[in-house]
Amino acid sequence: MNYQWYPGHMTKAKRQMQEDIKIIDLIIEIVDARIPVASRNPDIDDLGRGKARMILLNKSDLSDPSANKAWKEYFESNGIICAEIDSKNKNGLKDMRGLIEKACIAKLERDKKRGIKNSIVRAMIVGIPNVGKSTFINAFVGKNMAKTGNKPGVTKGRQWIKVGKNIELLDTPGILWPKFDDNITGLKLASVGSINDEIIVAEELALDILGLSDAVNDRIRTYYGLKDKDGYEFLQSLAIKRGCVKKAGEPDTEKAAKLFIDDFRSGKLGRISLELPGDKIADQERYHD
Ligand code: G4P
Repeated sequence: MNYQWYPGHMTKAKRQMQEDIKIIDLIIEIVDARIPVASRNPDIDDLGRGKARMILLNKSDLSDPSANKAWKEYFESNGIICAEIDSKNKNGLKDMRGLIEKACIAKLERDKKRGIKNSIVRAMIVGIPNVGKSTFINAFVGKNMAKTGNKPGVTKGRQWIKVGKNIELLDTPGILWPKFDDNITGLKLASVGSINDEIIVAEELALDILGLSDAVNDRIRTYYGLKDKDGYEFLQSLAIKRGCVKKAGEPDTEKAAKLFIDDFRSGKLGRISLELPGDKIADQERYHD
């Protein structure tokens, strides 16, 4: 299938983000831990030039633990503070304030030298749709959400959430758009649900997921007890096995494909990472300024 992304109103969103970035110290970029390369838009490197940066590998409960570790090491070796988190279950968030301070140490030290006592770090969350930006904000801020009002010199209508005594988070995350011109990145995004399902043909996506790699293919067929089936035949057998049949008794492969895609996305098939550092040098370059 040819995977595409229709940018829609991204120009307006980009302009808003450019405005917001002017008033913050730190960009906290959220990516999907299963596809840390495909689920980011490298334009953020330009948009965020000169700002402190952090990358959070969210949905790390769904990705392979050894891949999470490898990605964290990869980013840290490139000088970017990184953490594995699971915002849904509020895991990995305990040290978040400390990490934010670490990412902004230069500003905090500069303020200290200047004699500023209550130095504040202002941060904003950014990421492509569905990576968990809102879930993260809710999990991180929790019940202690205390919104501060508009401040002089701050874009009208922007609200800040105070987290602890010296961190303020912009309440609305910045939405980046997926950026790709290769079909495999599009496929990875569709696999985890970051491309609008309205433009997806379920059976084709299911077959493409099966073809992602030998390891993924094997994992799927083993999970469903259909080791001897592959491709469309796999979908037909899955439909019959799961009682997805049409009125005429025909296997409903579309229903089976949707069931399988849901299982894949929600982690029922196990923790799967679709990218590893070093997979594809060209993609890795997207991380460098
Ligand atoms: P966004 O603001 O970046 O667009 O993403 P949002 O927070 O809306 O999260 C998108 C989906 O991802 C939600 O699922 C959310 O529950 C899920 N999610 C977010 N963080 C994590 C995580 O760390 N682990 C897991 N497993 N899931 C996560 P949904 O199906 O749209 O909603 P719901 O079924 O949870 O209500």
